[in-house]
Amino acid sequence: MPTKIEKDSVTGEMTTGHEWDGLKELNRPLPKWWIYILYATMAWAVVWCVLYPSVPGLTGYYHGTLGYSQRTTVDRDVAAVAKQRGTYMARIKTLPFADIRKDPQLLAVAETAGRITFANNCQPCHGAGGGGNPGYPALAAGNWIWGGKLEDIQQTLIYGIRSGLDNARQSQMPRFGADAMLKPAEIEQIADYVMVLYGKSNGDAAAGKKLFAENCVACHGANGEGIREVGGPRLASKAHLLGDDRATVIAQINNPRMGVMPNWNTRLDEATIKSVTLYVHALGGGE
Ligand code: HEC
Ligand code: HEC
Repeated sequence: MPTKIEKDSVTGEMTTGHEWDGLKELNRPLPKWWIYILYATMAWAVVWCVLYPSVPGLTGYYHGTLGYSQRTTVDRDVAAVAKQRGTYMARIKTLPFADIRKDPQLLAVAETAGRITFANNCQPCHGAGGGGNPGYPALAAGNWIWGGKLEDIQQTLIYGIRSGLDNARQSQMPRFGADAMLKPAEIEQIADYVMVLYGKSNGDAAAGKKLFAENCVACHGANGEGIREVGGPRLASKAHLLGDDRATVIAQINNPRMGVMPNWNTRLDEATIKSVTLYVHALGGGE
């Protein structure tokens, strides 16, 4: 209840005129330091609201004189990373493989780019980690048809295999059965010998061996070791492009599958092709 303002007899200070049940309030000002901090924070708030995005509106908001927004910050970071990557990819494009491999940081960038490219473009045919699928060779096994040096792989990727390009890797196994170059009985005999080469039989395959020498060695080698120049896969092996059962072999001799590998020069840029080459080479089979 308001009473009159008077001097307090104990402290000698003035009262505010407020009194509760005989208790009177002294008129003591707030401490100066507290007041100054309050004014400073108010001033700071005004400055902040002018500089940074602050007041909301109906259709947007006040952007602040500094033009700050989290979006522009993210954009700037993304642009910086892209620029950094661009520099790396430009170096990957121009440097020879040997120099890229000498630079651990550059090699890491290349193999990362290669891994992503592989997952997006190659995995559907060649399997995860280049493990291979029937008709699509394993790339990690070191059992190369066309060659496992960096330059070989790069060449395969750029022009493809039977892709229709002039520079593509090209070879055509004759359709021995479909074109009646061999009789069915002869194909059976050759298949017997191929089973020996595959390590799945040790029966007598002398007749098949003779027919093999007459018809097959030009591409598959005298002992089935394969000939890379003509893309004839190694037959004296346990890893196979198509499958290791007799029926698959007979089907191949009758009417070869002749797998197609697309050319990548129109789909991937030079630096990306080199990156995926390095990645494939590092899968475990590189020469
Ligand atoms: C549409 C399926 C397909 C896709 C996609 C594909 N390949 Fe192939 N690739 C093949 C076939 C089929 C062959 C084997 C051709 C043959 O019979 O010689 C092959 C062969 C290869 C070879 C040669 C292997 C050797 O033993 O010499 C390499 C290297 C290769 N591919 C890498 C790649 C890479 C890297 C990619 C992704 C950029 C890729 N391939 C995408 C189908 C494909
Ligand atoms: C002009 C070259 C050429 C001749 C000759 C040839 N081949 Fe082939 N052969 C190939 C090529 C290239 C492939 C890879 C097949 C593909 O991509 O379909 C292959 C694949 C095969 C395969 C599958 C290998 C695997 O790893 O799965 C068998 C089996 C085979 N040939 C058997 C024969 C036999 C048997 C003869 C002889 C009657 C023969 N080839 C003659 C070029 C040849």
